[in-house]
Amino acid sequence: MTVDKAARAALNGQKPCVLWFTGLSGAGKSTVADLVEQRLHALGKRTMILDGDNVRHGLNRDLGFSDTDRIENIRRVGEVARLMVDAGLIVLVSFISPFRSERQMVRTLMEAGEFIEIFVDASLAVCEARDPKGLYRKARAGQLPDFTGIGSRYEPPEAPELRLPADEAPAEALAEQVMALLQARRML
Ligand code: ADX
Repeated sequence: MTVDKAARAALNGQKPCVLWFTGLSGAGKSTVADLVEQRLHALGKRTMILDGDNVRHGLNRDLGFSDTDRIENIRRVGEVARLMVDAGLIVLVSFISPFRSERQMVRTLMEAGEFIEIFVDASLAVCEARDPKGLYRKARAGQLPDFTGIGSRYEPPEAPELRLPADEAPAEALAEQVMALLQARRML
């Protein structure tokens, strides 16, 4: 096609990429992604956010939380993210995405340097203490048998582009770390 990815990116005046936030429920993925998007937007960058809590009400509303469904959830989100990168956007993806193999699969959909894996690293103890949606409490009570970190595994990234210490630092400081990484990589 004549109008290709490079042409769209050039018109947008930016380097499209995927910022893939992974981590436990309650780690702060969506909060940090939201702050990063605000900063990018203020710089005139064209962005889009894909978030587990909204995509699961629409595109992926047929999926639950079995291993098979989580794998399909991430596969679809990866494909959508790739289309959005083709459209010339900076895409912020905020999903638990608990399995290494699916994150790796999505990485292979993108060109070199386009997939930026950001591990929002908060311990289970801290996420459980925060419990913003009361889901850990439910899981401990046996009402959510396959909840990530309790009845379902989370595989931390082994070599993410960025690890955010989400136990200690406030979300604003973590968002600044993401912006610094993008600057260092000359994405901005
Ligand atoms: S993923 O594992 O398939 O990547 P996703 O990010 O889409 O998960 O959805 C996670 C959100 O769904 C959580 O933040 C929480 O609000 C909700 N949720 C409901 N049931 C579960 C569960 N069993 N495990 C994890 N999250 C759940």
